[in-house]
Parts: sequence; C-alpha cells; structure tokens
Amino acid sequence: PRTAPILVASNRGPVSYTLGEDGSLTARRGGGGLVSGLSAIGPESGGVWVCAALGEGDREAARRAGDNHLNPGDTGGQQVRMLDIAPDVFAAAYNGVANSVLWFIHHLLYQTPVEPVFDAEFAEQWAAYESYNAAFADALAQEAVDEAVVLVQDYHLALVPAMLRERRPDLRIGHFSHTPWAPPDYYRLLPDDVAAAVLRGILGGDRAAFLTERWATAFADCCAAVLGAEIVRGGGGGMATAVRFEGRETRLGVHGLGADADFLRERSRRADVDERLSALRAQIGPGRKSIVRVDRTELSKNIVRGLLAYRRLLETHPEWRERVVHVAFAYPSRQDLTVYRDYTERVRRIAEEINDEYGTEGWTPVALHVKDDFARSLAAYRLADVALVNPIRDGMNLVAKEVPVVSERGCALVLSREAGAYAELGEDALVVNPYDVEGTARALHEALRMNDGERADRTKRLAAAATALPPQAWFLAQLRAL
Ligand code: G6P
Repeated sequence: PRTAPILVASNRGPVSYTLGEDGSLTARRGGGGLVSGLSAIGPESGGVWVCAALGEGDREAARRAGDNHLNPGDTGGQQVRMLDIAPDVFAAAYNGVANSVLWFIHHLLYQTPVEPVFDAEFAEQWAAYESYNAAFADALAQEAVDEAVVLVQDYHLALVPAMLRERRPDLRIGHFSHTPWAPPDYYRLLPDDVAAAVLRGILGGDRAAFLTERWATAFADCCAAVLGAEIVRGGGGGMATAVRFEGRETRLGVHGLGADADFLRERSRRADVDERLSALRAQIGPGRKSIVRVDRTELSKNIVRGLLAYRRLLETHPEWRERVVHVAFAYPSRQDLTVYRDYTERVRRIAEEINDEYGTEGWTPVALHVKDDFARSLAAYRLADVALVNPIRDGMNLVAKEVPVVSERGCALVLSREAGAYAELGEDALVVNPYDVEGTARALHEALRMNDGERADRTKRLAAAATALPPQAWFLAQLRAL
C-alpha cells in the first residue's frame, strides 16, 4: 500500500483468470484499445491497475493476492489489484446501472414511450453502484503515494473522482470517457439526483477527458443544464475548456485514441492469421468481393440495420448477387442482459433470412461468425474490400481505424457520422446516417464499385489519420496533462 505513483482504474482489467479443475489459475491478457493504451503504464513505472474481479477465476485470484493485494501470475507486466466485490453488488452496478442505464443514455438507445422506468429496483441498483464506486475509491486511496496521478476510466466509475478526492485531496485525478456523452435533453431522462451525482462525481477530478470534442462539449452542456455550472471557453468563445462548479475548476480534454500500427502490422502477419485468411478466402469463394464488419453484438453497433442495408443492396443491385459476401463478426457481449440476448437472436435470424432468400447452391450471401477470434478479425481486415462501420453512436470505434492499417489492397470504409472516428476519418470514408438503410445500401454499392487506385489512396490517408495518436501516446498525453 501507498507505493504507486501512477494508477489506472477501470471495471475491466488488463487480464482475466480462469480457474482450472486442479485449482490452478491461468491468466489471459485482455485485448482492445483501452487495454493496449493503458498498458503503457508498464511495470517499471511502479504503477498499479485497479479493476473489478469479473468471474470466478478473477475472484479466486483476488483472494490469493495476499498482503500486497497484487495479483500473481502473468499479468503482462502490470501490477494488478482486482477487487472482489460481492457478486450481487457487482451485478447491480455493472448490469443494472452501468450497462443498462448509463450506456443506454449515452448511446441514445431507449425507446422512450416505454423506457426507461426508474422504480424501486433502480434505486437499489443505484445504491449498489455507489458502493461499487466506493470500493474503487478505497483501493486507490490505499495504493497511491502522495500526489500520485490517477486515471479513472469510463461510465462504470463516474463517482470515483469525487469520492477519491474526499479521501485523498493530494492526488491528481483524471477521468476518461470511452463512450459518447448524451446531449442535455436526453441526459435528463435520468432521475435528477442521479443526473447530478454522475456529473458531480466526474467534476470531483482535476480533468475530464473524452475521445472527441463533440462528447466533451455535450458533457459541458450537461453540467450547465443540470448543475448550473459555468463553462469556460477557449479563445474566441470556442471550445469548452473547463467547467467551474462550487469553487473548483475541472479542465476538459480531448484525446482521440488511435490504432496501434506497429502491434497490428506485426500481429496480423503471424501464422494463425494466415491460416484464417485461407479459410476465409475459401468461404468467400474465388473472384468475389467481401463486405466485412467486426463488432461486439452490441445494440449501439447497429448490426441489424447493416444487414438490412446489405439485403437492400442485393435487391436493388442484382448484379452483386453471387459476386459479394457479407462477412459479419458479431461477438458475444453482456449476455447477462436480456436485451443483448434478444438482439443477438435478431441478428442471427436476419442473416438466416437473407441466406434463405438469396442464397444459391454455391453462394451464401452472409457469413455470420459469433465466436470471438481476434486472429480471424485481423484476417478479415487483411482481405476486406469494404468495411461497414455503422453504429448508432460510438465513442470512437477502433475497427474503423484498424482496418485501413491492416488492409492489404486497400479497403473502402463505410462509416457512420455518429461514430467518434468520423471526426478524424470522415473525409476519406463513405459517410452514412446510421438510421438510413436506403442510404447505407447506396454507400455499400459505391464502396464496392470504387476503383482500385482510389481505394488504395483513400486507405493510405485513412491509415495515417487513424494512427495519429497511438495508444502509448494517448496514455502519455493524459498523464502529461495532469
Ligand atoms: C466499451 C466500454 C469499455 C468496456 C467495453 C466492453 O468499449 O467503453 O469500458 O470494457 O465496451 O464491454 P464489457 O461490458 O464487456 O466490459
């Protein structure tokens, strides 16, 4: 305790454990932008990463961690402290508040005539969210040396900055949102006390940072609308640069996390990826083009409308039948939640319908894969002619940034204007309104028709924009700013 000069806090940590039948623990390193970006914390820094124990293996690892709280085994060079939070408290905070209510608010996912309903059950879940946040604040307060820097991540931990400041006013605390931020009218669907508590929580830190200016602005607007806070603007009445509230000032920051080009290029040339590339080529069939998407099966990713747009393409442009395959990777996510399970089922059904409707003996129009496989995703990036990234809303969307880096012959990018990545990639992508299925079908057609030269040129520019702020630089920029 009290050894760490740098701390990261996130719900999902850089590693997860499986418990073997013989009682052994195997560590598996987590993937994704958040983990690779934050991994810059490195072992030599003496930093500590505080996260929640997510499954039984993690809980066991937390119990075995011993006096120094830090987990044993291969944690990829990280010192990790996993919090063994009571399962019912964790479930209410993670499923009930974070992934249902806060995620839905920031991604505009509610069908408002019937949802959300804030009842007694929610009040209990909210209390659990508070105690889950307090568990993080306690652990961080224990691990941090005087004046340490603490980087708190995402909507799961919105209350931590204020709670931590109360415990340790000496610390420098930043919060980073990996999601969009809701506009005030939508944000105010939340009960008033909850809406205020989330903002006060984040404003308890020295700095609140976001993936694009759009989300930072929305956050500032919510602070003004809900708390009556004062927004400080940059030169010439421009961008919101800080929020003043109750005598304190919280600076706003924007750091557009980019793709890790070195890692991706090296990883995508390994033998396991080559193998999957051959398998995918065989599945697509010779001479055919591919439209690739890679997502968690997540409501905000808009997979259903993507499939509908593809169906519309086959309907309106019969010349593409038998000449294209939609390779759709929809990996399981948050399956404890009924709406996610229903959505997964819906995706599967529509893919089947399209295959029944248009498929022929030698051609299956949609190749849907639901088993998570990073090597296969990379193989698909290598061969894709078109990438479809059409979220309803997305904090950034790293797939849009990874495809151009890994693509072998250039890949046309169909991109939602509601993804954070649009701010950086909009110029060389084919931009769509994610609700407009007809428009998305047209964009797919344009993308398939794009000539080789133009596709290669655009991909080169997309790759340059996508790697402007690689994960390590992203991480260091936040540290420096604090
Ligand atoms: C988003 C969030 C992350 C989260 C990830 C996966 O990217 O911003 O904080 O870890 O989704 O979701 P999960 O619920 O599986 O952690």
